[in-house]
Amino acid sequence: MTDYVALPGAPPRQFDLRPASRPELGEVWRSLSFLHGTYPEFRVWYWGSVVPGLISGERSLFIEKQGNHLSGLVIAKRADEQKLCTIWTRPEMRGCGVATRLVRDALEWLGTDRPLVTVPDETLKSFDKLFRTFGFEYRYANVGYYREDSIEHVFNGVLRPGRVC
Ligand SMILES: CC(C)(COP(=O)(O)OP(=O)(O)OC[C@H]1O[C@@H](n2cnc3c(N)ncnc32)[C@H](O)[C@@H]1OP(=O)(O)O)[C@@H](O)C(=O)NCCC(=O)NCCS
Repeated sequence: MTDYVALPGAPPRQFDLRPASRPELGEVWRSLSFLHGTYPEFRVWYWGSVVPGLISGERSLFIEKQGNHLSGLVIAKRADEQKLCTIWTRPEMRGCGVATRLVRDALEWLGTDRPLVTVPDETLKSFDKLFRTFGFEYRYANVGYYREDSIEHVFNGVLRPGRVC
């Protein structure tokens, strides 16, 4: 069974949402479910916005795999705003260029070098080199956007009112 096929003309790491690929959405979910603690509505966002957005084409998922395991992923949104919604590399694969490659592919799909990106305070340091590589511009810190006590750092743009990711 083919579980990962490049779309014709698409970057090689862009996820193809043909039915045979869909079980991988569960693996992505399991890899990211730790984000519940950071984003209280993460489950609703993933299954209610990301997956339908992948089907409609408003969102795209970029993944790298090693064997059967996910090495890293980027979720991007190309709609009323161009956004890198999630950037994540499996801990044991960090520092190998996975995120750099996936972000590069996502920027090509988004058609911009300056997408909106936000990261929680607790991960800001780990994104520093990656964001410098791409020349992302730090804009401001937003307190209480996703959780009362949380700080979200905003790059390249401005967060919209409300909790839409
Ligand atoms: C930030 C993150 C995506 C980087 O992924 P990665 O695949 O390791 O990135 P790359 O290998 O492409 O490395 C990019 C640069 O960042 C550096 N880097 C990677 N992880 C780092 C860390 N934890 N601290 C400091 N620098 C780090 C790398 O050394 C590299 O620098 P170099 O070009 O000088 O070698 C990864 O650390 C991660 O997933 N962190 C958790 C993020 C998270 O919680 N995401 C979900 C919410 S958005």
